[in-house]
Amino acid sequence: MLTATVVLDPAAVVAPVSRRTFGSFVEHMGRCVYTGIYEPDHPQADEDGFRADVLALTRELGVTMVRYPGGNFVSGYRWEDGVGPVAQRPRRRDLAWHSIETNEVGIDEFARWAAKADVEIMYAVNLGTRGVQEALDVHEYLNHPEGTQLSELRRANGAAKPYGITLWCLGNELDGPWQTGHKTAQEYGLLAAATARALRSAEPGLELVACGSSGSSMPTFGSWEATVLEHAYDSVDYVSCHAYYEELDGDLGSFLASAVDMDHFVDSVVATADSVGARLRSKKKINISFDEWNVWYLSRFQGQEPSADWPVAPRVIEDEYNVADAVVVGNLLISLLRHSDRVTAACQAQLVNVIAPIRTEPGGPAWRQTIFHPFAKTAALARGSVLQTRLASPTYDTAKHGEVAVVDAVATYDGEAGDLVVFAVNRDQAESVELTVDLHLFDTDLRLAEAWTLTDDDLRATNTREQPDRVTPVPVERVTVDGGTLRVVLPRVSWSAIRLHRAEPIG
Ligand code: AHR
Repeated sequence: MLTATVVLDPAAVVAPVSRRTFGSFVEHMGRCVYTGIYEPDHPQADEDGFRADVLALTRELGVTMVRYPGGNFVSGYRWEDGVGPVAQRPRRRDLAWHSIETNEVGIDEFARWAAKADVEIMYAVNLGTRGVQEALDVHEYLNHPEGTQLSELRRANGAAKPYGITLWCLGNELDGPWQTGHKTAQEYGLLAAATARALRSAEPGLELVACGSSGSSMPTFGSWEATVLEHAYDSVDYVSCHAYYEELDGDLGSFLASAVDMDHFVDSVVATADSVGARLRSKKKINISFDEWNVWYLSRFQGQEPSADWPVAPRVIEDEYNVADAVVVGNLLISLLRHSDRVTAACQAQLVNVIAPIRTEPGGPAWRQTIFHPFAKTAALARGSVLQTRLASPTYDTAKHGEVAVVDAVATYDGEAGDLVVFAVNRDQAESVELTVDLHLFDTDLRLAEAWTLTDDDLRATNTREQPDRVTPVPVERVTVDGGTLRVVLPRVSWSAIRLHRAEPIG
């Protein structure tokens, strides 16, 4: 068995856990909206046509915020198509996914769904085919209290109060040549800054996200962020990151270390943003909204011809996730938490059916994919502050990331509630690791409260309609807390979460 150690210090705080780290994403794409969250003739549909089973799973997943309505979709979207009497809404071509958008669901319906799911809305405006005026219009519709044409239209459509949406994305992936209305960094930076200034003069308290790179392998990565922020630094609060990971060419070792790439991605964007800030003599810091991340078997999708017959809600990228994918997702959450001082918003892409933790069948059941579980446990358990982890771990070589640690871990501590939680992965494909966590710097006696691990003899095992609970977290078999030391055995290729709780004072 391999060994690794971590020393934790309650005073060595990275940052508070941001609840927005546990965001998700609903795009008008494939079956995310139609037959995903919304299916009026489903046996479990509620009075608004939303699937109650999906709503229940969304709450169980612990999602706090949902980005809407896209994605690539938003870059050709006219928000006003989706408001008012449903029968009068136009059917439109969606060029991003080569399908027909019926507009049965628009922002008023989505806001009703979000209230039921108890999630904050992160709203993305179209800066692909549209600009400042349309961003102001949708803001007036959504957030202006009353007494103007568009706020009164919202009220006439049934929403008497403004939605009060705080977090706004200024477009989507405009660095990507595939994006409708793709722009150079200079063009986008000027447009993002102008849109941000206009939105802020309508409502100063908004939190605005400029598009960063759609991946760290983009040829313009780094220079895109620098140019965009040179124009928009004073006007925005966040720059976005997007990253998708997959196992390529059977290289499981590199895939399991995907979080190393995410760490590097975040560190590079923070360095770029800070260097622009330094050049501008600004005291302000730009944070990161990692508003698309996940495992996505993108290479299987690339090169597929778009459907010639413009279908409604086709099955698109409904990836079925296995055990190794879930371990990687758990590790990506460890990376996001570790960067909580700068990554204060993040969205797993997407919520239902489309590369998603929740799967549905039209007229049939909904179930949890393997990747559901590390997300749900992390969202439920990560509370208080993220602690720095001083980790000593054996290493292994990867083709993609060089030499990487076998174990990765992060811890959160909620001093008031008395909860310390350690999240850890073992990336080794053959050996278990005994992880020793030194707790001597805590002035309180911590006892084991719960310990979960997700692993399987069959790393390719998945959850399916027939076997929806084939892969679930199980209690850790070998874990002890004794004299200020936690010892836990992490099985090969596993993700684990261990919660310790303050022992009640005697007397
Ligand atoms: O999440 C799927 C797609 O991935 C989104 O529409 C786009 O923004 C990204 O390229």
